[in-house]
Amino acid sequence: MTAQTIAVIPGDGIGTEVIDAARTVLDAVCARHDVALDYTEFDWSCQRYDRAGAMMPPDGIETLRRFDAILLGAVGWPGVPDHVSLWGLLIPIRRAFRQYVNLRPIRVFDGVQSPLRGAEDVDFVVVRENVEGEYSEVGGRVNRGFPDEMAVQESIFTRVGVSRIADYAFELAASRRGYLTSATKSNGIVHTLPFWDEVVAERAARHPDVRWDSEHIDALAAKFVLQPGRFDVVVGSNLFGDILSDLAAAVAGSIGIAPSANLDPTKEFPSMFEPVHGSAPDIAGRGMANPVGAVWSAALMLEHLGHPAAAADVVTAMEATLAKPETRTADLGGTATTAQVTAALVEHLS
Ligand code: NAD
Ligand code: IPM
Ligand code: MN
Repeated sequence: MTAQTIAVIPGDGIGTEVIDAARTVLDAVCARHDVALDYTEFDWSCQRYDRAGAMMPPDGIETLRRFDAILLGAVGWPGVPDHVSLWGLLIPIRRAFRQYVNLRPIRVFDGVQSPLRGAEDVDFVVVRENVEGEYSEVGGRVNRGFPDEMAVQESIFTRVGVSRIADYAFELAASRRGYLTSATKSNGIVHTLPFWDEVVAERAARHPDVRWDSEHIDALAAKFVLQPGRFDVVVGSNLFGDILSDLAAAVAGSIGIAPSANLDPTKEFPSMFEPVHGSAPDIAGRGMANPVGAVWSAALMLEHLGHPAAAADVVTAMEATLAKPETRTADLGGTATTAQVTAALVEHLS
């Protein structure tokens, strides 16, 4: 069997800690399922930026292109402006490889305490548009430092871009509980979001099997808190999906659990798997990061690479580990270290 190739970018802060954990869990599950993965690690990070003046080499994207998948921890560190580090690595990968779907599942696991009452049934997926929308390089700043300084940032929504993310979300909803919510703000934003609504409605007509509605982002944020159990698939633009996915992760108990898959559904390019969280400078280097978000992301990677049984085993191990108070990290009210949680996951897999 030829091995599938994985580019590993641990990045900064707890990115390196949770990727270590994910690699250990992958080794255990792959041995059990006879899956062969061949890893190449890249030290692309803010440390590299300090040393070499760039987050990755000029041919970094070309280098990644030949891999079957990318596993990333997190990038960003105090001292390097976030827009420099993120637009120097993470965002160009998403855009060059047309990873237009950012899939972010949310579940309240047994034993994990949601900050909300009655949230036990929460099980939904945020489908975030991942390559256009509010994240664009179009705009500018003038009169820097003067009273008349101004900054302009354009949002770009295309018919192709909105149609394909809506189709993906409708199809996902059809394979789940058949209910889609589209995040909008067409009452306040007068060009892009009315367009988003129109295109989503057009695509809905092709998916009569899915019940759907549209909610303004402000009211939707409130409903994530008040009625999180009612959602199945939630589709949103790049920025709305970003904010909703951290909110959803908090509803499910901690941002430390939340995974993501940046997918090119055509499989022309490698997809990228990374936890939703960042480099967490406040807890980095203390061995206390929750590795579950990265481990669940690795499970999404296994599924994408065609190993559903191995992926399911990782999720079962996560469920068993989260169910026990002694194998929960501090963000979940426990005292376990990253290494202890990782060891418990491996034990379930052997
Ligand atoms: P963050 O997600 O790093 O941290 C937010 C809070 O959640 C912190 O209190 C942190 O301690 C906690 N937290 C996050 N992950 C955790 C885990 N696995 N276990 C336990 N606690 C966890 O967000 P931030 O503080 O806004 O960003 C820090 C840096 O990370 C910034 O440079 C930011 O740009 C970057 N960032 C990168 C990515 C990415 O690479 N995909 C994502 C988000 C933020
Ligand atoms: C995420 C992160 C990134 C985003 C940042 C770090 C650019 O918050 O993956 O959710 O906004 O996409
Ligand atoms: Mn985010």
